[in-house]
Amino acid sequence: MTAAIITISDKGSRGERVDTSGPALETMLRDNGYDVSYTAIVPDEAAKIQEQLIKCSDSFNLNLVLTSGGTGFTRRDITPEATSAVIERFAPGIAEHMRRESAKVTPNGILSRGVSGIRGDTLIVNLPGSEKAAKECLSFILPALNHAFKMLGVDSVEH
Ligand code: MTE
Repeated sequence: MTAAIITISDKGSRGERVDTSGPALETMLRDNGYDVSYTAIVPDEAAKIQEQLIKCSDSFNLNLVLTSGGTGFTRRDITPEATSAVIERFAPGIAEHMRRESAKVTPNGILSRGVSGIRGDTLIVNLPGSEKAAKECLSFILPALNHAFKMLGVDSVEH
């Protein structure tokens, strides 16, 4: 499976904060057999987020795009809205499961507003931005992703 990781952070995009969630997610994906062929860091701006998501789906035709960050309550947190605008079919169960399992780890787990869905044959998943939260949330959904990609027509998925 091919994948991209888009870190969404004003400070990260300006080089004022080192992005640790992106590399941590990349390691997790590689350890689980994914080919991470694209990574980027963009500010919390809808147009820039959408440009990345559309590129990864329509041009690169990747199987999975993870975003990290911008799902909370501050005024700059607009990742879910930007993502929703480019998703063609929502997959709410993925986001629901992440919040349900996250709430078992911390009460703040219910504060991520992330969404998940499909554009073309690409699954897009919003993860929260801290390294800890992003890794936890990815671990909650990884077991279901093989079947998701099988339904999306990925031939290389073992089943
Ligand atoms: N989910 C898990 N599994 N673990 C966490 O520590 N932190 C929460 C939440 N989800 C957390 C989590 C917190 S504190 C916030 S504010 C929201 O994710 C949104 O994070 P974001 O704004 O970085 O996307």
